[in-house]
Amino acid sequence: MEPVAYDKHIKQVLIAQEEIAEAIRQAGRQISTWYDGRPILLVSILKGAFVFLADLCRAVTVPCEIGFMCAKSYYQGTESSGMVSITMDLEQDISQYHVVIVEDIIDTGRTLRDVVALLRERNPLSLRVVTLLDKPCRRKVEFEADMALFTISDHFVIGYGLDCAEQYRNLPYIAEYDTAVDAEN
Ligand code: XMP
Ligand code: MG
Repeated sequence: MEPVAYDKHIKQVLIAQEEIAEAIRQAGRQISTWYDGRPILLVSILKGAFVFLADLCRAVTVPCEIGFMCAKSYYQGTESSGMVSITMDLEQDISQYHVVIVEDIIDTGRTLRDVVALLRERNPLSLRVVTLLDKPCRRKVEFEADMALFTISDHFVIGYGLDCAEQYRNLPYIAEYDTAVDAEN
């Protein structure tokens, strides 16, 4: 799909809509086989992972419940400051569930390190992490997801739930954000 005209920050489309859809079909099948009918809670980290969760939960073919948490990483422009805070917590008692954290992207690894540590303290039946995107070249702390649908190099990306200053979450594909546009202005 071609970038739409208003998107002056789109440098290139990195992952097309159809590629995302196919990877999600496979991920949904994998999650469905992992738990064999046991109680699953898919936990979406807001806001970035809301689109991924919406598609992923419909690719899961066994009963599952969903929950939301809001974790904010503080950004200066497109650079993480390394501070993470939980601004909205889950409503479920996760000790009754096999928890799958559904994240949009792992960058430095700090957000998930903190979220996983917090959720482990609550004794879920088990805990796995599924991320749409992984940028391993940017890690500052050791962290590996149980499943990463796409590994990308060091681009700041937008679309499919991911934003820059709250814009572009509604793009149906993943695109590279063009930082040069801001530098020119
Ligand atoms: P950390 O560094 O804690 O970051 O692994 C995870 C969170 O940082 C945001 N992030 C991005 N957001 N495009 C975005 O729109 C990116 O390229 C990007 N890299 C990191 C995101 O909120 C993620 O949950
Ligand atoms: Mg996020």
